[in-house]
Amino acid sequence: MKRINSVFNLQIRCLFIAVCLFVCSSGLTIGETCSADGDCDTGLRCETCAANGNTRSRCVRIQPMNPTSKVKGLPFNQYSWLTTHNSYALSGAKSATGSAILAPTNQEDSVTSQLNNGVRGLMLDMYDFQNDIWLCHSIGGQCYNFTAFQPAINVLKEIQAFLEANTSEIVTIFIEDYVTSSQGLTKVFNASGLSKYLFPLSRMPKNGGDWPTVDDMVQKNQRLVVFTSKSSKEATEGIAYEWNYVVENQCEF
Ligand SMILES: *[C@@H]1O[C@H](CO)[C@@H](O)[C@H](O)[C@H]1NC(C)=O
Ligand SMILES: *[C@@H]1O[C@H](CO)[C@@H](O)[C@H](O)[C@H]1NC(C)=O
Ligand SMILES: *[C@@H]1O[C@H](CO)[C@@H](O)[C@H](O)[C@H]1NC(C)=O
Repeated sequence: MKRINSVFNLQIRCLFIAVCLFVCSSGLTIGETCSADGDCDTGLRCETCAANGNTRSRCVRIQPMNPTSKVKGLPFNQYSWLTTHNSYALSGAKSATGSAILAPTNQEDSVTSQLNNGVRGLMLDMYDFQNDIWLCHSIGGQCYNFTAFQPAINVLKEIQAFLEANTSEIVTIFIEDYVTSSQGLTKVFNASGLSKYLFPLSRMPKNGGDWPTVDDMVQKNQRLVVFTSKSSKEATEGIAYEWNYVVENQCEF
């Protein structure tokens, strides 16, 4: 009896080891609690999400599906593109002025890393500051050393490098626009090398019509869509006023 038992136990143990080799080698899946990134499957990271009350670390996805890999050739507006809010407001960043940053931060990844991980929409707050255009998370339409992240051209150059390296990708920038200097946005876009990718205002559909297809935008190399929050910039700089082309749904957390 005892002997049979131990043979049985041995078999169970072998089975357990076999199951563990099979399951344990492929890490934890989405939503499972974890203690380090390495615990999770590839493409996942071990994170907490305080915003949804989730204070225990769980495996979360950091890369979305590329929407054009699911269905090709649709108008640009018929896809969903992952967009980050205050994309430049990197947690732990120090101001390029040398000051500590007292403004809230929203991101754990640089803009380059966001783009590489599938983000295709960036929300950037632009201000006149130190005779240049800066990305600041500020108040009252005025940038201060302690709310200034870095000159906008740095991040625009990161976007330029991504578009240059990835010739079939399309990126959208939503500018929260506090810039009042004359031609301020045009100058910084020109200087960054991004102007040649701009999708022209004249091709943006009014009255809710469909956009050109992604293939058409890629083929014409018009792969950067830019919106500003300042209505006057359409007339002065030919930059699309976002609420002439964009609708926003209600969102509750
Ligand atoms: C802000 O930072 C600049 C350096 O970029 C420095 O020259 C200036 O003194 C700082 N201003 C204040 C109020 O600290
Ligand atoms: C972008 O280009 C880089 C460099 O060629 C490449 O490693 C990366 O996979 C590309 N990303 C996308 C989304 O195509
Ligand atoms: C931006 O670049 C275009 C094309 O080179 C040029 O015609 C325009 O004058 C430039 N605008 C500014 C404000 O620098």
